[in-house]
Amino acid sequence: MDNEDKTIDLINNLKDIPAMPNIIVKILKLLHSETAGASEMAAVIKCEQALCTKLLSIINSAYYGFGKQITSVNMAISLLGIKKTKNVVITVAMSPLLSFQGAKSLWRHSILTAVGCEYIAEKYNLLNSDDAFVMGFLHDIGKVVLNLIDAERYQAFMSSQLHPDKNIQDERLKFDTDHSSTGSLLALRWQLPDVIKDVIRYHHYPLKAKNFLGPAVVNIVNTLVQDNFTDDWYDKELARMINLNIEDVQEVRNVIIERGEALMKELS
Ligand SMILES: [Fe+2]
Ligand SMILES: [Fe+2]
Repeated sequence: MDNEDKTIDLINNLKDIPAMPNIIVKILKLLHSETAGASEMAAVIKCEQALCTKLLSIINSAYYGFGKQITSVNMAISLLGIKKTKNVVITVAMSPLLSFQGAKSLWRHSILTAVGCEYIAEKYNLLNSDDAFVMGFLHDIGKVVLNLIDAERYQAFMSSQLHPDKNIQDERLKFDTDHSSTGSLLALRWQLPDVIKDVIRYHHYPLKAKNFLGPAVVNIVNTLVQDNFTDDWYDKELARMINLNIEDVQEVRNVIIERGEALMKELS
C-alpha cells in the first residue's frame, strides 16, 4: 500500500469528515453562474445574520481602511467587489474549522499566510491578489483532518519548531500521511478550484507542481510568517525562480504581521 492509499484509508475511517460550510457552497455556486452579480450575492449573505454583522465589522476595520462608515451589505459589496467579499465570507465561515480546540495557532497561521500571500502577490505583481488570499488561507486545511485522526498526538506535534518543509517529512513518518495529502483529498471532496488544490498539495514541494507559481508564493510566505523565522529560512533560489525580489525580508514580514493582526482583531 503506498502513502496515498494510506491517506484514503485513514480518511475513510473517520466518522465525521468536515463539510464545506454551506454559505461557501452557495457563494461559490453563485460565482460560477454567469448571470449572478452583487445583488444576488448580497441576498445570500443577508440570510446569515451573524455573517452580516462580522462582514460589516471587518469591512469597517483598519485592515480595509475605507475611512467611512459602511452600514449595509450592498454598500460593502460595491466597495469591496465580489471577489474580495467572497474572501471575507470564506474567512469568516471557515474560521471555526481552523481554530479547533487547542490549536488556535493554525487559525492564526492561516490568516497570516493569507494576508502575506495577498500582500506579496500585489506588491510584486505575481498573482491575482484575491486568489492569493484564499490560497494562503486554505493551504494547511489538511491539518484539520490530521487533528481529527488523532487530536492529542497531532496537537503536540504542531508545536514543532522545525522548518515547515522539514516538518512535513517528520509528519509523514509519525502519522503515515501528511497534511498535503489529507488536504488534497479534502479539496477534491469540496471541489475546490484547481489553483487552490495545487497549493494545498504542493506548497511544501512547489517544484513538483505543473504550475508552481501559487505553491511557490505560499511556500515562501508560509516560512516568512513562522514565529521562529530567521533570514536563512527564506528560500532565495525559489524566490529567484518566480521573480520575487524582496530587498528587506524582515521589513516585509513586519508589514504582513501587522496587517494580519489588524484582520484577526476583527475576526475574533
Ligand atoms: Fe503546510
Ligand atoms: Fe503552513
